[in-house]
Amino acid sequence: MIRCLMPGVQTQSARKVEVARHAGFCFGVKRAIRMVEGALAAGAGPVTSLGPVIHNPQVVRSLEEKGLRRASSLDEITDGVVVVRSHGAPPHVHTELQERGLAVVDATCPFVKKMHRQARRLFKKGYRVVIVGDRNHSEITSLTEDPAFACLVAAGPGDLDGVKISGRVGLAAQTTQTQENFQAVADRLLPEVLELRIFNTICDSTTTRQTEARELALRSEVMVVIGGRNSANTRRLAEICRETGTHTIWVETAEELSPELIGSALRIGLTAGASTPQWIITDVIRRLQSLPPEGTDAGTPLPHREESHTTGGSTEHVRRN
Ligand code: F3S
Repeated sequence: MIRCLMPGVQTQSARKVEVARHAGFCFGVKRAIRMVEGALAAGAGPVTSLGPVIHNPQVVRSLEEKGLRRASSLDEITDGVVVVRSHGAPPHVHTELQERGLAVVDATCPFVKKMHRQARRLFKKGYRVVIVGDRNHSEITSLTEDPAFACLVAAGPGDLDGVKISGRVGLAAQTTQTQENFQAVADRLLPEVLELRIFNTICDSTTTRQTEARELALRSEVMVVIGGRNSANTRRLAEICRETGTHTIWVETAEELSPELIGSALRIGLTAGASTPQWIITDVIRRLQSLPPEGTDAGTPLPHREESHTTGGSTEHVRRN
């Protein structure tokens, strides 16, 4: 029998699928989806998000099917309600939205806001600010596109090689970083600077998911990590699992899984990024159950079924393949 530790999922073979306790939606993502659904339900004109509201293409598509529009720049929006995504937006965007009299739903995660606030506070107090993170991620560009703010963005300690840094330095992190990488950058800075002021802005949801993923990977033969290709926190989960030496597969949906990928593994661990919905996690578990052992015919298609799935606060009933 597959022993699956997720309540309500049937098991059928000798495989054990163990699901991390905190796989999937975090507080900030649930909140953002709830806010979008609330704006759509209010019916106060078109609702447009500035960039993807969260980093999961399937959830974004589901919201767009309910009426959400997406714009990549302010020029594309003329009326209605504008949703600021969970990773935030630079101050000039907020100012322009206000000046143009557009209604705003600010879905920026409060933990992202806190990181932005603390980085700005350090800058205003005269610290040279270093942020540990991905310079192209929207959580970071929401800060770096502010002309009244300046910082150095380092993906890791290696990015500081050859950089002259001294005096009073303030350190913060993108909310989805690992504690280990953050610590490594702090260790790298400490011998060189006069003062190091540290704000640990990695959010608790991130740390909990990473710790669980590492522990689960260590007791699994194969780890399956589910989440959007554009999701920074999912990428970290996959990296952490790979670092344990366990064969790790990163998928967005169940359809990407094949018998060759799973092989003859009997102990499968499963986790999911903070923007992965429960219905995709359930699909992947069902797919793992339906895959034939390695060396037999290709994977069994997912059976038709009626099911309900929830994005944020609302539930919809769908027939899925
Ligand atoms: Fe917010 Fe942390 Fe989720 S920063 S969006 S609660 S991963």
